[in-house]
Amino acid sequence: MNPEAEENALKLVIDENIKSISYFHEKSMADTKDCSFSRKVVKQLWEAIAYGVQGGKRLRGILVFAAAKAVSKREYFSLSEAERKCVLDSATAIECVHAFSLVHDDLPVMDNDRLRRGKNTLHVEYDEATALLVGDALQTLGTEVLCSSENYPERRFKIISALSKATGASGMAGGQMIDVYAINKKLEKNDLEIMHKYKTGALFEAAVSMGYLAMNVSHEDERAKSIKNFMSRLGVGFQVVDDILDAVGVQKTTGKEAGRDKFLNKPNFVELFGVEYAKEYASECLNSALKALEKFGGEADFLRYIANRLVKRSY
Ligand code: IPE
Ligand code: IPE
Ligand code: MG
Ligand code: MG
Ligand code: MG
Repeated sequence: MNPEAEENALKLVIDENIKSISYFHEKSMADTKDCSFSRKVVKQLWEAIAYGVQGGKRLRGILVFAAAKAVSKREYFSLSEAERKCVLDSATAIECVHAFSLVHDDLPVMDNDRLRRGKNTLHVEYDEATALLVGDALQTLGTEVLCSSENYPERRFKIISALSKATGASGMAGGQMIDVYAINKKLEKNDLEIMHKYKTGALFEAAVSMGYLAMNVSHEDERAKSIKNFMSRLGVGFQVVDDILDAVGVQKTTGKEAGRDKFLNKPNFVELFGVEYAKEYASECLNSALKALEKFGGEADFLRYIANRLVKRSY
């Protein structure tokens, strides 16, 4: 399969699995009467959850598959059923957590955005309380999905641990804290890199870790270290490209309103160093990321393809 077809096929697999969240919905409502007020309201929450998790490039989920492939030398479709479920649950979980981070990121107390993935942000479509609860629910849904099988309990334990750490104060939440408190400030380059590494890189690094952990490869394995190294450069690069797209991207393509960082006076790579430097920096990130994969052969080609796709994207 060529990498583009592989990306599309895997995106479809993730999208289909995410649709199965109604399974959790039906289970959660089993003890309420069909017509009750409570059932109606919780149903509305589930609809909002589905709204929040729909769409997107699914790049973090796809990276789970790509890392699993690089260490196992096998395509997703040729793995055993239990392995496939472990990889797919991981991809689904990281996309749930990522969607949660976006729903909260868009709230008026944070970036106050009105457009996401080409449609109204969640709090605009529903309301702020619903957006808060959708975020909470999506975060725990990720863990619930990872606990949905008794196969490979040790692998799943390590996967949940990696995802939790990357989501919390030592990861995405910590980075978002820096982002919020950096408004109206001029950050040093090093602080900017740390902010990007945490707010965005952490979940990307978790994605590849979840991929190799699902294949029973430990963090200490040399291949795992190389892949983590690769992703740590690329995660920052991804956010720099997001900064560029915020400045010069097209709303119709990105599905987000442009110029928001400048409007909110948020320090980012473009605001501090200009578009040209930001582009150069992103391509350096790509080159050093690819260098980290030097010891791999063709089994890492899909990772390499996704790396190029991340940095050269226009949306
Ligand atoms: C947006 O991520 C948030 C950032 C970390 C920059 P993506 O650009 O991957 O968003 P979706 O999932 O494709 O909508
Ligand atoms: C997103 O950074 C970081 C998250 C953890 C969600 P941004 O705030 O720049 O992402 P967009 O531009 O809203 O997608
Ligand atoms: Mg933000
Ligand atoms: Mg934002
Ligand atoms: Mg942005």
